Amino acid sequence: MAYECILTETDGNVGIITLNRPDALNAFNKQLMDEVTEAVKAFEADDAIGCMVLTGSEKAFAAGADIKEMASKDYIDVMREEFITANWEEVTRTRKPVIAAVAGYALGGGCELALMCDFIIAGDNAKFGQPEISIGAMPGAGGTQRLARFIGKSKAMEMCLTGRMMDAEEAERCGLVSRIVPKGELREEAIRVAKQIAGFSRPITLLTKEAVNRAYETTLSEGVRFERRVFHSVYAFDDQKEGMAAFLEKRKPVFKNK
Ligand code: HXC
Repeated sequence: MAYECILTETDGNVGIITLNRPDALNAFNKQLMDEVTEAVKAFEADDAIGCMVLTGSEKAFAAGADIKEMASKDYIDVMREEFITANWEEVTRTRKPVIAAVAGYALGGGCELALMCDFIIAGDNAKFGQPEISIGAMPGAGGTQRLARFIGKSKAMEMCLTGRMMDAEEAERCGLVSRIVPKGELREEAIRVAKQIAGFSRPITLLTKEAVNRAYETTLSEGVRFERRVFHSVYAFDDQKEGMAAFLEKRKPVFKNK
């Protein structure tokens, strides 16, 4: 499929999706999100790909949903379209890990899309915010829920009620991002980490991601029980035998991914 609002490429076993509407700071119109959905599905279906990176430009990951497109919608429109979740949640459904590499603005839906990814590596100029309140709206793609779970009620509430932006350092301090790198090195570093992940056992990677995500969907005791069951299943894979044998033989493992 030919894309107009995103760029896709592969680097080894990593699939890279770059949001690319520079004139609108990568604001999400329907086409852009349809394209992100298609690209994520295509990388998910491609056996050569083990991990994805979702990124924007140095100035903006994304400045939110496209206000020009949203401004004229009425209640019936948004309700019938199931705006905005209908074409936004593929990133949360894909089983392969997705790293958000965020430089510059990640605002509104941009912040929410980053939160849908498995973890966020931030450029040192990153700015996260939920400014919807200032345009007479509110977060509509999980911002109130994921921020509250990931960084706690007080910061989430303040961000959503005031629209205050959080810089990269504050975002790292409160656990919103895994770490900060200089903005010029962000893309390269995210791809390096993605290659590392893609080099491990694919099925075990998928199970590990699923287990961590379970922490946000269930009680602690059920989550731990789920983890134990999945952990046991790892012993059914050749890759477990290979990984442990390689350690004992002081060599690098060669995972079969079966
Ligand atoms: C449409 C946008 C846009 C957006 C920026 N642009 N954000 N267009 N939707 N969300 C456009 C501007 O209109 C402008 O186009 C161009 O991008 C450059 O933006 P400037 O404002 O000139 O840049 P700057 O002065 O550097 O300010 C950057 C900014 C500001 C602070 C990020 O653009 C801004 O506040 N944007 C809106 C952020 C926001 O409110 N996001 C939440 C959206 S609501 P022209 O043609 O004038 O050059 C949302 C709801 C989600 O996301 C709910 C469910 C998903």
